[in-house]
Amino acid sequence: MADETSRESTGATLSNLSTENRTFAPSEEFAAQANATADWYDRASADREAFWAEQAERLHWEQKWERVLDWDAPFAKWFVGGKLNVAYNCVDRHVEAGHGEQVAFHWEGEPGDTRTITYSDLQREVCKAANALVELGVGEGDRVAIQLPMIPEAVFSMLACARLGAMHSVVFGGFSPGALKARIEDAEAKLLITSDGQYRRGKPAPMKANTDEATAETPTIEHVLVVKRTEIDVPWTEGRDVWWHDVVDRQSDQHAAEAFDSEQPLYILYTSGTTGKPKGILHTAGGYLTQCAYTHNVVFDHKPGESVYWCTADIGWVTGHSYIVYGPLANRATSVMYEGTPNTPHEGRHWEIIQKYGVSIYYTAPTLIRTFMKWGSDIPAKYDLSSLRVLGSVGEPINPEAWMWYREHIGRDNCPIVDTWWQTETGAIMISPLPGVTAAKPGSAMRPLPGISAEIVTEEAQPVGPGGGGYLVLDKPWPSMLRGIWGDEERYRDTYWSRFADQGYYFAGDGAKYDDDGAIWLLGRVDDVMNVSGHRISTTEVESALVSHPTVAEAAVVGASDATTGQGIVAFVILRGNVAQDEAKGEEAIKALRDHVSKEIGPIAKPRQIMVVDELPKTRSGKIMRRLLRDVAENREVGDVTTLADSSVMDLISAGMQDSS
Ligand code: WTA
Repeated sequence: MADETSRESTGATLSNLSTENRTFAPSEEFAAQANATADWYDRASADREAFWAEQAERLHWEQKWERVLDWDAPFAKWFVGGKLNVAYNCVDRHVEAGHGEQVAFHWEGEPGDTRTITYSDLQREVCKAANALVELGVGEGDRVAIQLPMIPEAVFSMLACARLGAMHSVVFGGFSPGALKARIEDAEAKLLITSDGQYRRGKPAPMKANTDEATAETPTIEHVLVVKRTEIDVPWTEGRDVWWHDVVDRQSDQHAAEAFDSEQPLYILYTSGTTGKPKGILHTAGGYLTQCAYTHNVVFDHKPGESVYWCTADIGWVTGHSYIVYGPLANRATSVMYEGTPNTPHEGRHWEIIQKYGVSIYYTAPTLIRTFMKWGSDIPAKYDLSSLRVLGSVGEPINPEAWMWYREHIGRDNCPIVDTWWQTETGAIMISPLPGVTAAKPGSAMRPLPGISAEIVTEEAQPVGPGGGGYLVLDKPWPSMLRGIWGDEERYRDTYWSRFADQGYYFAGDGAKYDDDGAIWLLGRVDDVMNVSGHRISTTEVESALVSHPTVAEAAVVGASDATTGQGIVAFVILRGNVAQDEAKGEEAIKALRDHVSKEIGPIAKPRQIMVVDELPKTRSGKIMRRLLRDVAENREVGDVTTLADSSVMDLISAGMQDSS
């Protein structure tokens, strides 16, 4: 399944990385007050289950577990027999412990409106939303689709589902009606929660109009619950559609939370795989919340009641689930939640927010850091960022230059940086420095956290030593691991467990390397999944979108390295025979194709570049050789073409590429 192409394309980075020998140890002062200490690694490996049991004590269990782990590979059950309510853990218990007046969220709207939500407020809102969901027919085990902007109601909705033992399926606000529809259908969702519109770069854009397109033919949807955010006009279906302010606001703010099994399904979150159909990754309650709470506490050195924490992800991605909602709330964090884009209304917006709320922990993505670099270091220099203590990065490998810039211009040389590797499937952070312990290297995620075990192995499953590279695998189960792919056990086994079936390793799909000191460097995907601005998009998905356009006969898509977004989408298309070639190659026609992909999947999947070609490079067995196309897209000399059915194809394509650029 893996093609060697992405490893080749990261080859250049690889040799740069292995020469990186700068290290940045935490200050003595920081180390002395850190939540986790160096001895945690040994303690955890001496008795993993005891270690995780200790971490689970961070939560309130209505009934204690009987066994820490049942591992019937590849199916895990954690904290077996335990019972808890996730929403109670994230909200009520903090209020009961006397922290009701503590701010849970400083919410900052894009147009500048704000809301301050204390833990007591949150409790009332979540209870009201839970009561409303019950009134709308939602019960234990039901699926609720949520497509909302970054507004507090997104958090209320997720927690209301968790409170009822229902599952949410949050769909990123930028996804197309088609993508939403596919997710509603796959999960057979009963309710959709959405909003009238959303603010995007200072302007209200429609949301309900799009979701209506998605729900036109989804018979499982009984109601659409609509939050009013922008006052934009909305189409309305009487009987099905209800306003949040009509239904939720009038509910009682009391709701008794029932305790559910530790393995109660908590949510489904769809992510791109190597085929066109997104995978519904399933997470369950006890183990997931345990690892979210543990990692949020130790990786960010979070101090409840003191830290002000900001994760800039969107709630539609796993980072938003684990590190805006579940981890921080389980740990009684005070968080910033921001609705808008980083340059609305100006390029200093993030720094202004950090200054305004005294943010101490800031967690963002490399693509954004590189964008900030482009905008210039004089912008953050205008703000007081002295409240910052810890900086985090997630979503893709962070290049050493961006890491250094982050450290110098945002961290003012005195904040540990934690480069956190994990996935939708892992549920929570797996590989990361500990800020008070690790002497971090710019660009390396360093080593697995205490309690986590990872290996880098060759194709033949042989562990590689210092200096060696290969596939990243997880060789022992972990509490927040995915429990499966919704409705598709075979795909679950196939995708993650078949590659190293004999060894029972989880195949992460990432290439990685140890440096001479044994630190781990992530090198990007080894499958046909691209990483664009930290978002996973499969090449097949974009190819399917392209061939669904009437002018396109065939398409091949590659991720080419991009200075800002990590990878950019480059598409090669063959037009249908009956299409007027000149017209279809014109700028207008290319734009129409790009817009078509955007409409089919969402703006994040819009190709950076589309090239019309007469043929695609294929092996004799008909497999497209993306490796060669990537060479072309990255302006490199084209590699070995000997396995091509027709080796002259590449000359034509390369010549065409030069013409078009
Ligand atoms: C990549 C996001 C290098 C990796 C939490 C992984 C990273 C995919 C890092 C998961 C990192 C994430 N360094 N690569 N620190 N973090 N990745 O599911 O390829 O959206 O497999 O989860 O992002 O993306 P996902």
